[in-house]
Amino acid sequence: MAVQRTFSIVKPDATKRNITGKVNAKIEDAGLRIIAQKRIQLSKEQAGEFYGIHKERPFYNDLVEFMTSGPVVVQVLEGEDAIAKYREVMGATNPKEADAGTIRAEFAESIDANTVHGSDAPETAAEEIPFFFSDDEIVG
Ligand code: PPS
Repeated sequence: MAVQRTFSIVKPDATKRNITGKVNAKIEDAGLRIIAQKRIQLSKEQAGEFYGIHKERPFYNDLVEFMTSGPVVVQVLEGEDAIAKYREVMGATNPKEADAGTIRAEFAESIDANTVHGSDAPETAAEEIPFFFSDDEIVG
């Protein structure tokens, strides 16, 4: 399997509880490298555009509200099969369904305050990474 890059967000529930380092440890323990990272406050516009694919879904407004409720840490992760590997390490969207040992099983509070986001496919990663990072901010 080839080396890939994926996009990650450590969500406001995690920055609020000061557990970014614990999330990063899970990422690194899985063999993924954090090759870009910054802590930012998302605007309503940015979050709305980023989650535009969910615009028609009933949880869209709450999702935008939650993602702008505090700082987030956006990241680029690199490694073998990084997209699928990170989805595995994250665990299921609903923490009640997440496998033991995953980030969401250990840290997530609910289906919306679920600690992390990760790209779900190569095409998504290719859109999400440049949404937040310029090439010179990524040091592989
Ligand atoms: S789904 O249901 O399979 O489409 O879910 P998924 O594509 O994994 O993620 C949807 C994102 O919306 C957030 N969110 C919710 N999803 C489902 N139901 C509810 N009620 C809900 N509220 C918020 C969820 O955390 C996913 O966020 P990201 O950042 O993409 O992981």
